[in-house]
Amino acid sequence: MPGVSAGALLELCISTILSIFSGVFSKVFSWSKGTCGVTNSLVSDANSQSEQSKDLDVTTPTSVNYHFTRKCNYKCGFCFHTAKTSFVLPLEEAKKGLRLLKEAGMEKINFSGGEPFLHDRGDFLGKMVQYCKAELQLPSVSIVSNGSMIKEKWFQKYGDFLDILAISCDSFDDETNQMIGRCQGNKSHIENLFKIRSWCQQYKVAFKINSVINTFNVHEDMTEQINQLNPVRWKVFQCLLIDGENAGEEALREAERFVITDQQFQDFLDHHSAVSCLVPESNEKMRNSYLILDEYMRFLDCREGRKDPSRSILDVGVKDAISFSGFDEKMFLKRGGKYVWSKADMKLDW
Ligand SMILES: C[S@@+](CC[C@H](N)C(=O)[O-])C[C@H]1O[C@@H](n2cnc3c(N)ncnc32)[C@H](O)[C@@H]1O
Ligand code: SF4
Repeated sequence: MPGVSAGALLELCISTILSIFSGVFSKVFSWSKGTCGVTNSLVSDANSQSEQSKDLDVTTPTSVNYHFTRKCNYKCGFCFHTAKTSFVLPLEEAKKGLRLLKEAGMEKINFSGGEPFLHDRGDFLGKMVQYCKAELQLPSVSIVSNGSMIKEKWFQKYGDFLDILAISCDSFDDETNQMIGRCQGNKSHIENLFKIRSWCQQYKVAFKINSVINTFNVHEDMTEQINQLNPVRWKVFQCLLIDGENAGEEALREAERFVITDQQFQDFLDHHSAVSCLVPESNEKMRNSYLILDEYMRFLDCREGRKDPSRSILDVGVKDAISFSGFDEKMFLKRGGKYVWSKADMKLDW
């Protein structure tokens, strides 16, 4: 270049090269910053999504069955929740667990057993029922019972706090009930059932019936009596075997002789198809579709055909324990597990 010294030319070249480099460098840097930003936000979005889906994956204990006692005064030969311990939690501990469940999303509690009216002559049960309705304000509080220990006084004291009472009855023939073991001494299970039905009417508690279909009742026609009793729901179970409860070496009952085939169960259902309140539960539907808490407040996982306990919700909390429950939420919904379960919403003709 004319008038420019070789040194100045070299300086110009170096500064041009430097400026080009710096431009390229800053561009690359800004892209990489930008890309990182995008990547970071994608990563954080993905993280929060997986957190959310993890939260969605966590089972909500919407409807829980608390078998707080295993003791019973009946001897049903097919029973799948047997008296393997005589343990019952102290009332304050049980209430603590119930509160934890409510905080985790419980809307319905069902008290079962063993026979729930046996312990403390039904007062322990009554206090939990009252606590769940009056303090925890659960939409639905229910009980499943054989009915033999229920007194009218119990309804007077606790009836207001109870939405649904289910009484189990597998036959309308007392001889068959005797053969099954659904009885205590010579008392008539059926007479008692009708008495409780009228108390439910009188004290405004929704009345439900549970029946286990087995070899002894599979040919019985129950249509007339069910229509007469007019329950809000008639749950019809296919007799289920659970290893360690009513099958296998460690079991207290041997229920094999009660078991019916899927076809026999279907025939029973077909025979009763005119009964509109009938809700069928085959073995397949029943096995994993209940959230079951045992007497220590441990969830019981039935997936392996036995009842494998989690740790207690009182020790590890609901979220931890429930991940070992084996609960099949889809099947719970498929079997109609969610229904109108507050008596206030049932529009019953009391
Ligand atoms: C274990 S009991 C406890 C509550 C109360 N003692 C009663 O019999 O209603 C709960 C429900 O499970 C039903 N059940 C018992 N053994 C069964 C089995 N092997 N298969 C299906 N249902 C069964 C009972 O008939 C009852 O309706
Ligand atoms: S099913 Fe029969 S033996 Fe089992 S807990 Fe209920 S009443 Fe007792």
